[in-house]
Amino acid sequence: MEKEQPSRTDRREFFSSVVAGSVAAAAMLARPAQAADGPQLAKVEPLPYPYDALEPYIDAETMHLHHDKHYQSYADGYNKAAQAQPSLLAVSPEANVANLASLPESVQTAVRNSGGGFVNHKFFWTVLKKNNGAGPQGELAKAIDAKFGSFTAFQTEFTKAAATVFGSGWAWLALGPDNTLAIEQTHNQDSTLTAKHRPVLGIDVWEHAYYLKYQNRRPEYVAAFYNVINWEFVSGRYAELMKG
Ligand SMILES: [Fe+2]
Repeated sequence: MEKEQPSRTDRREFFSSVVAGSVAAAAMLARPAQAADGPQLAKVEPLPYPYDALEPYIDAETMHLHHDKHYQSYADGYNKAAQAQPSLLAVSPEANVANLASLPESVQTAVRNSGGGFVNHKFFWTVLKKNNGAGPQGELAKAIDAKFGSFTAFQTEFTKAAATVFGSGWAWLALGPDNTLAIEQTHNQDSTLTAKHRPVLGIDVWEHAYYLKYQNRRPEYVAAFYNVINWEFVSGRYAELMKG
């Protein structure tokens, strides 16, 4: 299995991104779509941190494969479908995933699976950062307490959701159209966006996200995940979404 490491220059660039912290992560999400008259393809950006930034909780080899191979494959699949149906290129992958039912039937499956895979992972990379035990902040901390009773109670429910996705999928903390928080599961690469729910936090529980390190022990991966939630970014995202 390939073990390529970023060059020293690459690492410097990555570390620069890390210094920018959640600013870089926010930029990945907030980046405006390409010019309205240009094709909006799924573009794989480098991770905003080194591959080993999440060690020992998520290992560098998993991050290499997950980002460089799986994520790239979802982007490629989406772009192939979009190029076969150029009307898709007028808006972002996120917008097409959100409006899945209105797309031509011939591309719905590809957008659901590959487009969903692309947008789910694009979001996932942004919520990851070692947090040294920090938790949610500000309005999100208050909203979690109000909705779930306490952060511990939220963790219990989120853990259960992540552990009980049957087969491959995701668990989310998402914001519904009425701006209330809810813990949700999606299967395969289905996105909460398709149900018009905006993700605040998500965990990928496909085996490719954890199998190299945790094998079949998904609960250990889910427990470790709490060490790599970028609560600063997630809390900021919640506050931005609530502003409308
Ligand atoms: Fe994944």
